[in-house]
Amino acid sequence: MADRGYLIAGNWKMNGNLESATELSSAIVGGASNILETVELLLCPPAVHLQATAAAISGTNVRLGGQDCHEAESGAFTGDISAEMLANMNCSYVIVGHSERRDAHHEGDALVWRKANAALRAGLAPIICVGETEQERLSGNAEEVVAKQLKASVPDGVDGSRLSVAYEPVWAIGSGRTPTEEEILSVHSAMRKALKDLLGHDAGDSIRLLYGGSVKPGNAAEILMLSEVDGALVGGASLSASDFLSIALAVK
Ligand code: 13P
Repeated sequence: MADRGYLIAGNWKMNGNLESATELSSAIVGGASNILETVELLLCPPAVHLQATAAAISGTNVRLGGQDCHEAESGAFTGDISAEMLANMNCSYVIVGHSERRDAHHEGDALVWRKANAALRAGLAPIICVGETEQERLSGNAEEVVAKQLKASVPDGVDGSRLSVAYEPVWAIGSGRTPTEEEILSVHSAMRKALKDLLGHDAGDSIRLLYGGSVKPGNAAEILMLSEVDGALVGGASLSASDFLSIALAVK
């Protein structure tokens, strides 16, 4: 198995203000010294707080990421942000295909593929999010849905140095509910197989597979110890420095 290391990413979504973004990132930097070297910490603040967050984490190993990007490099796209702009703000990652964008902004796999390619073009590492709805889970189709999303959204020729994938069941996001360990294992194995089929054995094996959806300090250890779970994409709990750091400390 490839030595993938862990990625613990905080997706702050549309929360906070300038003061709280600075405070939160400074507190995370301040508490990060006990975290294993194999664990990479990533903060994805709202775009308007990238600059303040970048300043707070400057000179540390904590990384910065965007929550979304447009597929084009520049142009008449009011309200959008390009991957190049994120790179210019010192981002090294960008989340694409989050279910909140798929749902509220009607983003499909083909657009997610173009956004992931835009990220690579700008030198960013995309984190492609996939995940089934509750209905799809109940119908027994979770593995199939997730593999199909991956096949349609992963750029050609990538490997783990430039791509991570996050499995976020839609019904687990913000709900306090999580899949069982067996369910996470089964979907992560299906994702690994899909990535190996798409990219070849070694490249497919090198890609970090994160789990996201109601990850908290209380369940992080059991989720992060599962084989094929290489990190977490954390929403609500990433807005508390102590919760976010406890999740990172749960990697053993
Ligand atoms: P919660 O951790 O709040 O469930 O959010 C998960 C998520 O959507 C991270 O991208």
